Amino acid sequence: MTDQLRSLALDALTRARDRTAALTSCVDDPDLTAQHSPLMSPLVWDLAHIGNQEEQWLLRQVGKGEALRPEIDSLYDAFEHPRAARPSLPLLAPAEARIYAADVRGRVLDILERTAFEGGPLVDAGFAFGMIAQHEQQHDETMLITHQLRKGPPALSAPAPPAHDTGPLPREVLVPGGTFTMGTSTEPWALDNERPAHRRIVPAFHIDTTPVTCGEYQAFIEDGGYHERRWWAAEGWDQIRQHDIGAPLFWRREGGTWLRRRFGVSEEVPPDEPVLHVSWYEADAYARWAGRRLPTEAEWEKAARHDPHTGRARRYPWGDSDPTETHANLGQRHLRPAPAGSYPRGESPLGVRQLIGDVWEWTSSDFLPYPGFVAFPYREYSEVFFGGEHKVLRGGSFAVDPVACRGTFRNWDLPVRRQIFSGFRTARDAQPAGPDGDGR
Ligand code: AVJ
Ligand code: FE
Repeated sequence: MTDQLRSLALDALTRARDRTAALTSCVDDPDLTAQHSPLMSPLVWDLAHIGNQEEQWLLRQVGKGEALRPEIDSLYDAFEHPRAARPSLPLLAPAEARIYAADVRGRVLDILERTAFEGGPLVDAGFAFGMIAQHEQQHDETMLITHQLRKGPPALSAPAPPAHDTGPLPREVLVPGGTFTMGTSTEPWALDNERPAHRRIVPAFHIDTTPVTCGEYQAFIEDGGYHERRWWAAEGWDQIRQHDIGAPLFWRREGGTWLRRRFGVSEEVPPDEPVLHVSWYEADAYARWAGRRLPTEAEWEKAARHDPHTGRARRYPWGDSDPTETHANLGQRHLRPAPAGSYPRGESPLGVRQLIGDVWEWTSSDFLPYPGFVAFPYREYSEVFFGGEHKVLRGGSFAVDPVACRGTFRNWDLPVRRQIFSGFRTARDAQPAGPDGDGR
């Protein structure tokens, strides 16, 4: 068990570093130090921040080693400097940042070899190593967002997701009402906000079998959805009016055709692909226009994990086994979502597809602690973000590595955000029974 976790940790750390290297070696030094958007850090900040977090948790805490570069801690403290201010800090230059991260990693691999995976919550089951691998992969997704915002010729490319014969799919499924187990107390590398497992009562509801597609979203645009006040939450209406928003981020209309920019390439918007780069407000407005609503976070997790035949909560929609390439579009193997209905092997017991991978899915829920939540190992991971300001996203995108994606994994962001790899699916109450007049 311990040897297996140790090799999983080594593998996860190595995979994260390979991805970090790919994302930071495909552009030149001026590009690494430039700020491509005030919403994002320069890539070179993420690079050294990854090394600095690893130094703090694995070198100093787990390894009980001396600090390597304590003087740079505050430069790479995300709470001390907002993203927009980071380019003007005296950051490590690209070559220095690479050497620093590699130096930390070399020492960490020695620590990994000699650390017993028991004796306290930080080391039990190799938690801190898993946490740091997840942290690096989360920043790898952040860096991919920076790449998407970056102007200029493409620096990254990847093959399209494999085609799946999706067959005819029902538009939605009925998830029966009753209790289910939300969250986890057993997943070794689950982060604090996913804990503890607890029972939830979720009344019956219907949920879409796939995320909402670009083609479906276009129908909302064409119907004047962005100009009808009644579909929009008040703050959402203010935001789209103030910033003159009329389509997902990166879309533009040319003649009668919708085009989008994706990692430096202009292309026609593919109608069958899940819509990407919409804010919570846009998702919420679309759902209202369609006569539906966003699922709550509990509904999303029940659709993803609850097995109605056994009553058990699964780790993933398809069961308890870790994701493979046939289950889900994860890990930046493809730099886009797969068409709606893809990955039949990843479907839930009730037939819901693409819950894991492809696009992060907005839920209607605020980011709140579960009953019995305990901040671990630091309050700034989750606790300081709890409250009404942030909305929960679930399921992970094509940009998320499997190590940072589970049926219980919780992501959150401000409802105005749309540079993230965000999409959504819709839901509706199961009762009252009768003909439903919703249009999609
Ligand atoms: C969980 C994705 C919201 O990027 O802000 C990275 C993850 N926390 N470093 C973020 C995180 C600290 C976090 N999200
Ligand atoms: Fe971080």
